[in-house]
Formats: sequence, structure tokens, C-alpha cells
Amino acid sequence: MISNPLSRANILLGVTGSIAAYKAADLASKLTQEGALVNAILTEAAIRFISPLTFQSVTGQPAYTDADLWGAQAHVLHVGLAHQADMLLIAPATAHTIAKLARGSADDLLSLTALALGSEENGPPLLIAPAMDAGMFNHAATQGNLRILRERGAIIIGPEEGRLASGLVAMGRMSELLEILGHARYLLARNGPLRGRRVVVTAGGTQEPIDPVRFVSNRSSGRQGFALTQAALDAGAQVTLISGPTHLPPPVGAEYIGLRTAEEMRAAVLAACQSADVLVMAAAVADFRPAQPSDQKIKKTGGAPAIELTPAPDILAAVKDQRAELGRPKVVIGFAAETRDLLANAQIKLQAKGLDMIAANDVSASDAGFTVDTNRVTLLHADGRKEELPLMSKAEVAAEIIERVIPLAKMGGARGVCNH
Ligand code: CTP
Repeated sequence: MISNPLSRANILLGVTGSIAAYKAADLASKLTQEGALVNAILTEAAIRFISPLTFQSVTGQPAYTDADLWGAQAHVLHVGLAHQADMLLIAPATAHTIAKLARGSADDLLSLTALALGSEENGPPLLIAPAMDAGMFNHAATQGNLRILRERGAIIIGPEEGRLASGLVAMGRMSELLEILGHARYLLARNGPLRGRRVVVTAGGTQEPIDPVRFVSNRSSGRQGFALTQAALDAGAQVTLISGPTHLPPPVGAEYIGLRTAEEMRAAVLAACQSADVLVMAAAVADFRPAQPSDQKIKKTGGAPAIELTPAPDILAAVKDQRAELGRPKVVIGFAAETRDLLANAQIKLQAKGLDMIAANDVSASDAGFTVDTNRVTLLHADGRKEELPLMSKAEVAAEIIERVIPLAKMGGARGVCNH
């Protein structure tokens, strides 16, 4: 089953001498909570800011320092650590450590281990989250070193603009932990079963303007579509997330297209689908929109207006036509939001919209559908199979759906769409 790759990862966490080292303890804790096995390596400068014991305590694993270089296991320690690692994540990374990595120095346990890891192109991923003062970060030497590392395949996360230890507000602050975790999750998933496949996911509700400040919309939160995006990323896919307005952060690694109206979504979906293998249409697209939105805010002095509605574009109908012409996307999954006759209505939509599978959703239930974190769906397949899934988190529903997308993507869809 598709799952967060952090839950089975062996991560080497390099910690170097920056004030942001205290945040690395939280990072180690969060990685451990996700299920990762975390071995920390602290440089001499790092242990002036934070104790190895802190990392041992939050990870339940030994935390290593240069003192271990001269211990009984010394001759194999860096090689052993490197060989069992799925990733080396250095956070925070100082200008000094970045310089050492760029030129291949090997004078402490962290730099030795980084070399023993193998080249960035063939070995496990090397992630670097720099943290330093703005002048040091902008210095040509540091920029040059980062360029060398990037060219060798290392991933540099941040830094961000923010308040620095010097009191300056400038570039140099270590990226937020969620951002770092997101990058680690994304990179660890790259060899998944949907590797090389392009997946388009839509999410959220559209907003159809009445006037410049008012709109017609629905209760969709976007959570199911965002969870589907994360599950597709976890399966190794290249994902475009096309979403109506939400408050959710887009999963790291997804290409994000934010928009408002059904018409904008139709255009974005059709464009993205030209090269897509899979479309998962989880958005709650408006069926009707105000026929003539006002250019100016409607004043109440004119009395309550009668708002005439006109049909909004049916995106899946447009996708069906484009698919018949281009043969893409090869797989199309829809949702059916129903308040009555759930399965009968979903079955009609499955056929009418030419879908490979539809997730039927009773949106009137208090524990499923819009706004809540859980969902209960029945999956109807084009070949007539029906699977009733129990109440689950939206992340679990997403994993179940993407799990079923994998064989469909391999065979080019359930409806025998030709592969171009
Ligand atoms: N959908 C779409 N374009 C629309 C409306 C819906 O592409 N204008 C997609 C949804 O994203 C979903 C599927 O069609 O994957 C079914 O949406 P749903 O709202 O359940 O059904 P509708 O087709 O809108 O029909 P009705 O509202 O009459 O049930």
C-alpha cells in the first residue's frame, strides 16, 4: 500500500554549528514520529549549540560525533553509516560545511560520511538546508560552492528570508521544518511505482463571481484532492495539482495551479491533460454560475437582485472529448458527490463521463465528504467491480485510490484508450 516513504526510511541527519541546530532536534523528532530511523551526526561546532544526548533522546538511536571517529568501530563507522542510509540530510548546514562538501574534504565524521555515501548522482540523495548570515550566504564563495553541489545532484532547500541571529532580516534563515520534511518525503518517493508518470489532480470548490466581492461556491475544503496529490507523489508520480481556493499548503513537489472559476479550471485541466497519464478529478466544480456577473459591487439600495444562473462547463465532459482525440489522459478517475441514491447516480456518472473508476461519496453524512477529515467511499470500476471502503482518513482513501490507479496506468486505462 502507498505510504509516506519517511515511515520506512533510514535517514542520516547531519547537524552543523549554527544557532538553527536547536531546530534540528525538532526535525529529528518529527522524522522519528513519521517512522524514520534517524542517526544524527553532529560536528564539533554543532555540539557547542546542542548536545548529542538531545538527538539520542528524541530518536532512540545513537547520535555520533567526531569522538566516535577514534573509537573501536572507527575504521568502518562512516562507511557503515553511509551504506545503510537512504538519505543524508544536513540541517542546518553552515557555510563551512558547504565549502567542505563542495571540495570533498574528509576531516570529520560528517564530511567523511558524505564522501562515503557515493556521488550525488548515483548514491542516496543529499539534502542540504543552509543557515547562515545573509552576507555569508550571498558571498560568491558560498554561492559557488552551492552551485557545485547542485550540479553534482545535491538538493538545496532554502534558505529563506527572515530574522537572523545578527538581528538582520535577510536571506539566510533555515527553511521551515515542514518544508524540509516535505522535500525529504518527495525525494525518497522518486522510485515508486508511478515513477515517470504524470498525474493531474483537481481539488477544492470553484468560486463563481456574482460581483467583485461575492461569489457562488460550495463547502469543499480541498482536503481529499490534496491528500490524493500527496499519495500520487508518494507513489513516485510527477503531479500537477489544480485547485480552487483553499487554506491548505500544497504538498512539496507538486506543481501547483491555483484558480477560482470552473472556466479557469476547465482550461487548466485540458492543458495539463495533454501530456498526462492520469487525471483524478476530486474538485467540486460549480454546475452553475451567475450568467452576468456585475463589474461593480451590487448595492443593497437597489433591492435584492435576482441572480440568473447559467451552466458552468462540465470539465469531465470536455476531458472525454479531448481524450478521444489525443488518447490522453490514459486513466480518468472521478468522484460522485451525492446526497441520495448514491450508487445508482455514481454508476450513471461512471458511464456518462467515460471514467475508469469513480469514488462515490455520500456528502450528506456527518463523518464523510466535505469539510471533515474522514471519508467513506465506494469505488465503482468500469469493469463492473464494486468495492465498499470503510470510514477512513482522507489520506487513507487517497492511498486506496492511487493504489488502484497504478495497474490502470500500467495497462493504459480500463477502457482501452490507445497509447500515444
Ligand atoms: N465535474 C466536472 N465538471 C463539473 C462538475 C463536476 O468535471 N462542472 C466532475 C467532478 O469533479 C466529479 C464528477 O464530475 O469528479 C462528478 O461531480 P458531481 O458534482 O458528483 O456530479 P455532476 O456531474 O456535477 O452532477 P450532479 O451535480 O447533477 O450530481
